Amino acid sequence: MSLFVCFWIWLKKMAASSGVKVPRNFRLLEELEEGQKGVGDGTVSWGLEDDEDMTLTRWTGMIIGPARTNYENRIYSLKVECGPKYPESPPIVRFVTKISMNGINNSNGMVDTRSIPILSKWQNSYSIKVVLQELRRLMMSKENMKLPQPPEGQNYSN
Ligand SMILES: *[C@@H]1O[C@H](CO)[C@@H](O)[C@H](O)[C@H]1NC(C)=O
Repeated sequence: MSLFVCFWIWLKKMAASSGVKVPRNFRLLEELEEGQKGVGDGTVSWGLEDDEDMTLTRWTGMIIGPARTNYENRIYSLKVECGPKYPESPPIVRFVTKISMNGINNSNGMVDTRSIPILSKWQNSYSIKVVLQELRRLMMSKENMKLPQPPEGQNYSN
């Protein structure tokens, strides 16, 4: 763990013990800690794109495609941008790995906020983890699970 992250965790503990309201950065630090510990069966994971990103804005996510779907055995990389209004506003989410799925722009991998309910009806209790788990759940939905997929290992160009 970088010095930067240690510092933030210390600062967060100080704030928690003094009863200060938890703003954006403390919330994101919780998500960072949880991401570093890893959750559940490891089918989704996330972390800062750059450990030294003081603004805690740019994240990477990973989803392992669910069994018995056309996403099976594939590893999907995503970029997640938590802007200054996060968690009041949803993050901007984009697939890096090419994917064919409803609600995902097939020219650039952008997750369409309007067609993914968890983003269109965003609540500040949601998190990067919740978004990744929901996208994985949608891969298992009837409308997505059997969609023909692009060849493995291709990324969107930007
Ligand atoms: C996908 O993204 C491109 C580039 O931003 C945009 O021009 C296009 O309208 C989008 N397609 C859909 C279906 O939203």
